[in-house]
Amino acid sequence: MASIPSKKKNNPGRVGGKAPFLGQWGMFFRQFIKHPGMVGSVIPTSATVVNRMLDQVDWQKCRLFVEYGPGVGTFTHAVLDRLHPDATLLAIDLNLDFVAYLEAQSADPRLKVVHGSAADVRRFIKEAGHAHADYILSGLPFSTLPAGVGEAICAETHAALTPGGAFLVYQYSRYVLRLLNPLFGEVHDDREWRNIPPCCMFRAVREQALAKAA
Ligand SMILES: C[S@@+](CC[C@H](N)C(=O)[O-])C[C@H]1O[C@@H](n2cnc3c(N)ncnc32)[C@H](O)[C@@H]1O
Repeated sequence: MASIPSKKKNNPGRVGGKAPFLGQWGMFFRQFIKHPGMVGSVIPTSATVVNRMLDQVDWQKCRLFVEYGPGVGTFTHAVLDRLHPDATLLAIDLNLDFVAYLEAQSADPRLKVVHGSAADVRRFIKEAGHAHADYILSGLPFSTLPAGVGEAICAETHAALTPGGAFLVYQYSRYVLRLLNPLFGEVHDDREWRNIPPCCMFRAVREQALAKAA
């Protein structure tokens, strides 16, 4: 299934156009063989899921968009296509080979790729010169992460979001719901069947700050 959306708006920094189709899939598959638990999937996410996830974003308002687990950039390029010219995309991946691959794919100055864990998202946001993220998108395989890591990432994500900001999660299982429900006031639950395998899509919204009593 194709993994790069066709919408092209604001993305001038793409180096050398689209990566060869089999090159991307080959890279992804090789990393899955090396680190199955960390990568969590044999093929990248479909364009249908990419578009449905990103259609939930208010691109006019978004100034900091964070992506966890960009891999070969399936979502990254689509985010850059939509991202406001003054906004930043912070992409965090634990796999150094994916980080190097992604850096070679884009020279867009709005993209900052960092090597590390999503559990350190607040530090990375601060180092990028921001206080909070407007949106955080996750492709992390929560059900195969080491014990306690998913819990830590979700708690840090909640703290890293601006009030009213959203954590957008796509997954092949509903496992992550048990991590999201205790933290977020509002969790939306959807499904996309036109993906191999069918994909669960969640949107967890950080509650707005309560107005101070007079
Ligand atoms: C299922 S792949 C998703 C790739 C891509 N976003 C897609 O949709 O095709 C999961 C990605 O999460 C990354 N990852 C796993 N654990 C991580 C962590 N703790 N912090 C950041 N990235 C992590 C992996 O290296 C991999 O790139």
